[in-house]
Amino acid sequence: MSRVRTLPIHTASASYDVVLGDGLLAQLPQHLRAIFGERTGRRVYVVTSPEIWALWSQSFLSAFSTDAAQPLVLQLPAGEQHKRLAALERLAQQLATAGADRSSILIAFGGGVIGDMTGFLAAIYMRGIDFIQVPTTLLAQVDSSVGGKTGVNLSAGKNLIGCFHHPRLVLADTGLLRTLPSAELRAGLFESLKAGLIYDSQLFAYIERHAEALLRQETEPLTHVIAESVRIKADVVSKDERESGLRMILNFGHTLGHAIEALTQYRGLLHGEAVGWGMRVAVEASRMRGLPDAEASRVLTAIDSLGLPPLPRLTPRRLLNAAAGDKKRIGGIRHFVLLQDIGRASVVNDLTDNELLRAIQAGLKLGR
Ligand SMILES: NC(=O)c1ccc[n+]([C@@H]2O[C@H](COP(=O)([O-])OP(=O)(O)OC[C@H]3O[C@@H](n4cnc5c(N)ncnc54)[C@H](O)[C@@H]3O)[C@@H](O)[C@H]2O)c1
Ligand SMILES: [Zn+2]
Repeated sequence: MSRVRTLPIHTASASYDVVLGDGLLAQLPQHLRAIFGERTGRRVYVVTSPEIWALWSQSFLSAFSTDAAQPLVLQLPAGEQHKRLAALERLAQQLATAGADRSSILIAFGGGVIGDMTGFLAAIYMRGIDFIQVPTTLLAQVDSSVGGKTGVNLSAGKNLIGCFHHPRLVLADTGLLRTLPSAELRAGLFESLKAGLIYDSQLFAYIERHAEALLRQETEPLTHVIAESVRIKADVVSKDERESGLRMILNFGHTLGHAIEALTQYRGLLHGEAVGWGMRVAVEASRMRGLPDAEASRVLTAIDSLGLPPLPRLTPRRLLNAAAGDKKRIGGIRHFVLLQDIGRASVVNDLTDNELLRAIQAGLKLGR
């Protein structure tokens, strides 16, 4: 097995490790014992989806083969449309029927949808039980499994119900990514590129240099990028667990990314791809506020080199209006993340509609 990296997370309310490496799934039972102790009698429940279980149940269960207590499996259909309270209630009901109690442990085995839902379920089942994350998408490994945000969607919008509840461990087995569709891999890479852009020029430069190898899923560069992305997220959420300041920079590219997703009913592009387009807009806005031309062009080239899929048909005005919806979020003020430099971001709250409209036109290569 290749090198295993352990990245500690410390926030005001929780401390836990992200353990990263190829083939780690086989060690899951040992990790459970290390955290929760030997023969505790605590029952373990895996929450996953049929697609992932079809691919990985054998590896998952064989890890437990010598254990007397096999985990019980609960399934949730794949897809963002199932990240809802109704599905959560069904899962909670299944847990209760199966005899889960306050000492039970949940394992989220899937992408961000499974991770967010399992985390929320763990946060509210019997007022809170332990859970661990075993993320199976690149996005979940570099982003959503770390930081403790959990939740579900409402028809009115994404992630409107939820809470902070940290896992006791994140076990990121890079081998699980081998079955991931290439579009999902690319979507995750956009989030890593974002992490480099806002926080670490070296990670940015590394992705810039290794874009092709990363898209081919070569193990070494991919593992390096995952580790560095996790390190950045860990650092940011350690300093600002509840997103009162610094954590906002993680939303770089997301104002327009979310607008694109909302206008296409979350069916046009994957989240990371929408963020890729959103980052183009944010780069143009940053250029208007002083990011040097040479750096702006370099960033745009790096974004494009990951292979942005075509943008669905949308007018700049509709995008501006949809992005204005974001304004409601914090006291009517639009917080917009700009790049000052590659590796350094700041949040402004005075970006005008006119500036944003011009950035949309330039960044998305749209006419008026
Ligand atoms: N909590 C946070 O901080 C945070 C941060 C970012 C995103 N999110 C959330 O994450 C979700 C998106 O997560 P995602 O991009 O992982 O999407 P996802 O969970 O929907 O997974 C994407 C697809 O990949 C499939 N899949 C997963 N692992 C696979 C594997 N190893 N092999 C083959 N197929 C596999 C899934 O079945 C699904 O069809 C969104 O709901 C978003 O709101 C949360
Ligand atoms: Zn994102």
